[in-house]
Amino acid sequence: MKIGIDLGTTNSAVAFINEHGAAEILTNGEGERTTPSVILMEGNKAIVGEVAKEASITQVDDTIQFVKRQMGNPSFKIPLPGLNKMINAVEASAIILKKLVQDAEQELSEKVTDVVVTVPAYFDDAKRNATIEAAEMIGLNVLKIINEPTSAALAYYHLDKEKTNQNIAIYDLGGGTFDISIVNINNNEIKVLSTDGDSNLGGFDFDNVIIDYVINEFEDETDIDLYDDDDAMQELRENAEKCKKSLSRRAKYIVPVSSSGHSMKVEITKELFNELINNLVDRTKIVMEDTLSEAGLTWNNVDKVLLVGGSTRVPLISEMIESFTGISPSKELNPDEVVALGAAVQASLMDDNNPNATKANIVVKDVNSHSLGTISLNDAGDDENSIILHRNTEIPCSSSREFYTVHENQQKLSLDITEGEDTDPEYVNIIGTSNLELPPGLPIGSPIKITISYDKNGIVNVVAKDVTNNVDLGEMVIERKSNITQIEMEEKREALLSIEVE
Ligand SMILES: Nc1ncnc2c1ncn2[C@@H]1O[C@H](COP(=O)(O)OP(=O)(O)OP(=O)(O)O)[C@@H](O)[C@H]1O
Ligand SMILES: [Mg+2]
Repeated sequence: MKIGIDLGTTNSAVAFINEHGAAEILTNGEGERTTPSVILMEGNKAIVGEVAKEASITQVDDTIQFVKRQMGNPSFKIPLPGLNKMINAVEASAIILKKLVQDAEQELSEKVTDVVVTVPAYFDDAKRNATIEAAEMIGLNVLKIINEPTSAALAYYHLDKEKTNQNIAIYDLGGGTFDISIVNINNNEIKVLSTDGDSNLGGFDFDNVIIDYVINEFEDETDIDLYDDDDAMQELRENAEKCKKSLSRRAKYIVPVSSSGHSMKVEITKELFNELINNLVDRTKIVMEDTLSEAGLTWNNVDKVLLVGGSTRVPLISEMIESFTGISPSKELNPDEVVALGAAVQASLMDDNNPNATKANIVVKDVNSHSLGTISLNDAGDDENSIILHRNTEIPCSSSREFYTVHENQQKLSLDITEGEDTDPEYVNIIGTSNLELPPGLPIGSPIKITISYDKNGIVNVVAKDVTNNVDLGEMVIERKSNITQIEMEEKREALLSIEVE
């Protein structure tokens, strides 16, 4: 069985294509349509979901959450509560995925082998790789990594195919990440024209501004710094989210807070909340504008703005979009489910044996969200990032460039591969170093053709060719900062097997 998984910062969802050929959400073991991406450790048992989220208020030290933000970060490690062991974001995600897949298997009465997993469009190479590793760690075969807004577009199209030649903007603001994609749908083709985003902007940040406000108010009144009180902080995080959600419907909310025998009730009005999040909302506006111009369109050419992600329920978002674009954003999609539904459609498109994969002639064309390049010396002798493959190019894509050996009989070629838009190496992200053994006897100045590509998952590959002898030198393995070895992978897989997930 092939399924689609939306592995979210705060909530995850799973979907499949049912016997009628329609995408359908699979409920979890608790009968819910989404599963909070939170882990509670009880001895050797990892409990994932609502129970864990509730426990996070009173048992901060026993729970793990918001790990998606740390994907691809090699220095992030957290203690696995109760066990004398540290885990990284990949392992934590693997535990969450295990719960999702186990429950899906239960619901389907079938073994799940292959998955499509969604990622924010703005996820870079390291974060995409980390997502694949998490799935592989629990023995899943990843059919494809698909961008969340693209997945939403796919689900939107699949729901009703009578949508011909329209440009849509997909505004996806989740718990931890923001994406915007401009997509053209025509006949059976879904073509992403441009995409951009921010992998550190979401509802989590809305909660944080409320938290900071309350901390300041409390300190003014009592001189107590809530940051020193872990339990109070966790309770405040929970109340801040409740406050934010309430303000989507109410005019004000009272946040209770107490620490060291002092307690206070802090009133947050909708106006105040809007003021507090204004800068964050503005950041999404700037990204929207850039993305639209990258697509070569104006808002007049856009037929619809689709809202995706739980944070689009904040009224200020719709208000901003409407006043900025002149388009009243559409809430026709279920913002919590549509990404998983699209992933299920994508999975069925890749399933030759599924009789229910009826819409098999959909063509999805996506783009890369970051430019790719290498560091080289400029004329002034300084390091410079030179872009080889521009962002918003249809993937898979590749671009070649010739480099020349600088020594007689040079044995090795080493390239720093970058992701980012700037020429200054300081402002781009070095994915890793690609090393290559060269054949012996090459004279100085021998041309080596390097081809850098983004594969269908948006992951970077590099291959080289010895032009002099017309010989392919094969793949240049990228030594990524976040790489784990095959041995480490096996060890982690073994270790995870010993944890019971529920
Ligand atoms: N009624 C509401 N008003 C305001 N915010 C809401 C509301 N309902 C949910 N949210 C917020 O939406 C966020 C969760 O959205 P969603 O489930 O789409 O995110 P996610 O998929 O986990 O994250 P991401 O896609 O960024 O990885 C949370 O921050 C939550 O507080
Ligand atoms: Mg999401």
